[in-house]
Amino acid sequence: MTDVNQQEGELIEAARAVRSQAYKPYSGFAVGAALRGKDGSIHVGCNVENASFGLTLCAERNALVAAVASGVREFETVAIVASGAGPLAWPCGACRQVLAEFGMDWTVLIVGEGNGVLRGTLRELLPHNFVLPGGPHDPSAGDA
Ligand code: THU
Repeated sequence: MTDVNQQEGELIEAARAVRSQAYKPYSGFAVGAALRGKDGSIHVGCNVENASFGLTLCAERNALVAAVASGVREFETVAIVASGAGPLAWPCGACRQVLAEFGMDWTVLIVGEGNGVLRGTLRELLPHNFVLPGGPHDPSAGDA
Protein backbone atom coordinates (compact mmCIF):
# COMPACT_ATOMS: atom_id res chain seq x y z
CA MET A 1 0.00 0.00 0.00
CA THR A 2 1.20 3.50 -0.71
CA ASP A 3 0.45 7.16 -0.10
CA VAL A 4 -0.65 9.30 -3.01
CA ASN A 5 0.14 12.95 -3.71
CA GLN A 6 -2.46 15.53 -4.73
CA GLN A 7 -2.03 15.03 -8.50
CA GLU A 8 -2.31 11.28 -8.08
CA GLY A 9 -5.42 11.77 -5.97
CA GLU A 10 -6.98 13.81 -8.80
CA LEU A 11 -6.15 11.08 -11.28
CA ILE A 12 -7.71 8.43 -9.05
CA GLU A 13 -10.87 10.52 -8.78
CA ALA A 14 -11.03 10.79 -12.59
CA ALA A 15 -10.72 7.00 -12.88
CA ARG A 16 -13.35 6.50 -10.21
CA ALA A 17 -15.75 8.86 -12.01
CA VAL A 18 -15.39 7.23 -15.43
CA ARG A 19 -15.79 3.78 -13.90
CA SER A 20 -19.47 4.63 -13.43
CA GLN A 21 -19.79 4.71 -17.26
CA ALA A 22 -18.55 1.13 -17.65
CA TYR A 23 -20.69 -1.00 -19.98
CA LYS A 24 -20.50 -4.39 -18.26
CA PRO A 25 -23.77 -6.32 -18.70
CA TYR A 26 -21.94 -9.66 -18.90
CA SER A 27 -19.40 -9.55 -16.07
CA GLY A 28 -20.86 -6.87 -13.82
CA PHE A 29 -17.23 -5.80 -13.25
CA ALA A 30 -16.70 -2.06 -13.73
CA VAL A 31 -13.24 -0.62 -14.40
CA GLY A 32 -12.18 3.00 -14.84
CA ALA A 33 -8.74 4.16 -15.98
CA ALA A 34 -7.25 7.64 -16.11
CA LEU A 35 -3.89 8.53 -17.66
CA ARG A 36 -1.94 11.68 -16.95
CA GLY A 37 0.15 12.89 -19.85
CA LYS A 38 3.51 14.55 -19.25
CA ASP A 39 1.78 17.77 -20.35
CA GLY A 40 -0.59 17.42 -17.37
CA SER A 41 -3.64 16.41 -19.43
CA ILE A 42 -5.95 13.65 -18.17
CA HIS A 43 -7.51 10.99 -20.43
CA VAL A 44 -10.10 8.49 -19.25
CA GLY A 45 -11.62 5.20 -20.35
CA CYS A 46 -13.94 2.50 -19.01
CA ASN A 47 -14.47 -1.12 -20.02
CA VAL A 48 -16.96 -1.74 -22.84
CA GLU A 49 -18.17 -5.33 -23.09
CA ASN A 50 -19.63 -7.13 -26.07
CA ALA A 51 -21.98 -10.08 -26.69
CA SER A 52 -19.04 -11.62 -28.52
CA PHE A 53 -17.02 -11.75 -25.30
CA GLY A 54 -13.60 -11.63 -26.90
CA LEU A 55 -14.38 -8.24 -28.40
CA THR A 56 -14.65 -6.64 -24.97
CA LEU A 57 -12.45 -3.56 -24.60
CA CYS A 58 -10.61 -2.90 -21.32
CA ALA A 59 -10.67 0.45 -19.55
CA GLU A 60 -6.91 0.96 -19.76
CA ARG A 61 -6.72 0.50 -23.51
CA ASN A 62 -9.74 2.73 -24.07
CA ALA A 63 -8.08 5.49 -22.04
CA LEU A 64 -4.84 5.08 -23.99
CA VAL A 65 -6.63 5.25 -27.34
CA ALA A 66 -8.43 8.44 -26.26
CA ALA A 67 -5.12 10.02 -25.22
CA VAL A 68 -3.35 9.17 -28.46
CA ALA A 69 -6.32 10.43 -30.48
CA SER A 70 -6.01 13.77 -28.71
CA GLY A 71 -2.31 13.99 -29.55
CA VAL A 72 -0.74 12.80 -26.27
CA ARG A 73 1.88 10.03 -26.38
CA GLU A 74 4.01 10.68 -23.33
CA PHE A 75 2.67 9.64 -19.96
CA GLU A 76 3.45 10.01 -16.30
CA THR A 77 0.86 7.92 -14.47
CA VAL A 78 -2.13 5.62 -14.96
CA ALA A 79 -4.72 5.15 -12.21
CA ILE A 80 -6.98 2.10 -12.44
CA VAL A 81 -10.07 1.73 -10.28
CA ALA A 82 -12.04 -1.53 -10.31
CA SER A 83 -15.31 -2.37 -8.64
CA GLY A 84 -15.89 -4.86 -5.90
CA ALA A 85 -14.60 -5.44 -2.44
CA GLY A 86 -12.32 -8.26 -3.58
CA PRO A 87 -8.58 -8.10 -4.13
CA LEU A 88 -7.19 -5.12 -6.02
CA ALA A 89 -7.22 -5.82 -9.77
CA TRP A 90 -3.93 -5.36 -11.60
CA PRO A 91 -4.17 -4.63 -15.35
CA CYS A 92 -4.41 -7.62 -17.68
CA GLY A 93 -1.41 -8.71 -19.72
CA ALA A 94 -2.77 -7.33 -22.98
CA CYS A 95 -3.23 -3.88 -21.43
CA ARG A 96 0.30 -3.98 -19.97
CA GLN A 97 1.77 -4.63 -23.42
CA VAL A 98 -0.33 -1.86 -24.99
CA LEU A 99 0.60 0.67 -22.29
CA ALA A 100 4.27 -0.38 -22.59
CA GLU A 101 4.28 0.77 -26.22
CA PHE A 102 4.41 4.29 -24.79
CA GLY A 103 7.16 3.79 -22.21
CA MET A 104 8.15 1.56 -19.32
CA ASP A 105 8.82 4.07 -16.59
CA TRP A 106 5.43 5.48 -15.86
CA THR A 107 3.67 4.90 -12.58
CA VAL A 108 0.74 2.51 -12.24
CA LEU A 109 -1.68 3.10 -9.35
CA ILE A 110 -4.19 0.35 -8.55
CA VAL A 111 -7.19 1.34 -6.48
CA GLY A 112 -10.03 -0.68 -5.00
CA GLU A 113 -13.19 0.24 -3.13
CA GLY A 114 -11.31 0.99 0.07
CA ASN A 115 -8.49 3.43 0.66
CA GLY A 116 -5.63 1.10 -0.26
CA VAL A 117 -3.53 1.95 -3.31
CA LEU A 118 -0.86 -0.24 -4.89
CA ARG A 119 1.97 1.38 -6.84
CA GLY A 120 4.26 0.02 -9.52
CA THR A 121 5.86 0.90 -12.83
CA LEU A 122 5.20 -0.72 -16.19
CA ARG A 123 8.73 -2.08 -16.13
CA GLU A 124 7.90 -3.92 -12.91
CA LEU A 125 4.53 -5.10 -14.22
CA LEU A 126 5.80 -6.29 -17.60
CA PRO A 127 9.47 -7.19 -17.61
CA HIS A 128 10.62 -8.49 -20.98
CA ASN A 129 7.75 -6.92 -22.93
CA PHE A 130 7.56 -7.77 -26.61
CA VAL A 131 9.68 -5.45 -28.74
CA LEU A 132 9.63 -5.88 -32.52
CA PRO A 133 13.16 -6.62 -33.75
CA GLY A 134 14.15 -3.75 -36.00
CA GLY A 135 11.13 -1.71 -34.84
CA PRO A 136 11.18 1.74 -33.27
CA HIS A 137 11.77 0.42 -29.75
CA ASP A 138 14.53 -2.05 -30.61
CA PRO A 139 17.57 -0.59 -28.78
CA SER A 140 19.95 -2.09 -31.32
CA ALA A 141 18.04 -0.36 -34.15
CA GLY A 142 18.03 3.08 -32.48
CA ASP A 143 14.98 4.54 -30.73
CA ALA A 144 12.47 6.55 -32.76
N1 THU B 1 -11.07 -5.46 -17.57
C1 THU B 1 -10.52 -4.22 -17.74
O1 THU B 1 -11.23 -3.26 -18.07
N2 THU B 1 -9.20 -4.07 -17.52
C2 THU B 1 -8.34 -5.09 -17.19
O2 THU B 1 -7.14 -4.87 -17.06
C3 THU B 1 -8.86 -6.43 -16.99
C4 THU B 1 -10.31 -6.62 -17.18
C5 THU B 1 -12.52 -5.63 -17.80
C6 THU B 1 -12.85 -6.44 -19.03
C7 THU B 1 -14.20 -7.00 -18.66
O3 THU B 1 -15.20 -6.07 -19.04
C8 THU B 1 -14.19 -7.09 -17.14
O4 THU B 1 -13.09 -6.32 -16.70
C9 THU B 1 -14.04 -8.51 -16.62
O5 THU B 1 -12.96 -9.16 -17.20
